Amino acid sequence: MTAPARLGTGAMFDGIARRYDLLNRVISLGLDRRWRRALVQALAPGGRAGAFVDVATGTADVALALLRAYPGSRVVGVDPSGNMLAIGRTKLARAGLAGRAALVQGDGQRLPLPDGAACGAAISFGIRNVPDRLACLREMRRVTRPGGALAVLELGEPREGLLQPFARWHVHTVVPRLGAWLSGSREYRYLAESIAAFPTPDAFADLCREAGWTDVTVRAFSFDAVHLYAGRAPDA
Ligand SMILES: C[S@@+](CC[C@H](N)C(=O)[O-])C[C@H]1O[C@@H](n2cnc3c(N)ncnc32)[C@H](O)[C@@H]1O
Repeated sequence: MTAPARLGTGAMFDGIARRYDLLNRVISLGLDRRWRRALVQALAPGGRAGAFVDVATGTADVALALLRAYPGSRVVGVDPSGNMLAIGRTKLARAGLAGRAALVQGDGQRLPLPDGAACGAAISFGIRNVPDRLACLREMRRVTRPGGALAVLELGEPREGLLQPFARWHVHTVVPRLGAWLSGSREYRYLAESIAAFPTPDAFADLCREAGWTDVTVRAFSFDAVHLYAGRAPDA
């Protein structure tokens, strides 16, 4: 019998890759596209767009959105899951954008890029899965040129507001059941647990600063269920 894939790893995502995009749309009630649009805006390059790095690129939705938003840009997407990347490559090819993107199997804690190679660095719903988040944020900082942007989208525990009970019920009850049902995998239970274990927005913003990012801001979406962290690589 094969051991179950460790939760949150590339191996786990290999197992659910085929249904990942559908799961995303359903679980996020279709709002994931709006959140990714905000991430793309946060990465607007000051001058001419160069290459973005999209860490935990998965099925390449962020890569596609960046290429469409910034003509002339390129994207290097990095992810340990070969199956997620295979779907991403198909989507890029169908969109006629494969020539502007490279999807590379790798780890966010050791990015396969030289210093200052990227004009901006993104990670969308991926940093929760990376064992050493500080190392990943430092790597993203290392590969980003001075003045370049950081944008991190991540789920959070809904904490405040009138609709907080509804948002908590959605995350803790609906998401695991819907995820297990749609993916045929019990691993979607892990989603709620990992969200509850994620640092508060203030603590995560501090981690971005510790990794060397400046001008760090936090924007909340959907009753605090999602946060967009934006920052800038200090000028040289
Ligand atoms: C929830 S998916 C997000 C995919 C995509 N960014 C999106 O917005 O839909 C999380 C991704 O993190 C990847 N991942 C897991 N561990 C990682 C690591 N150490 N470094 C980089 N990516 C990792 C998984 O393989 C998976 O594709």
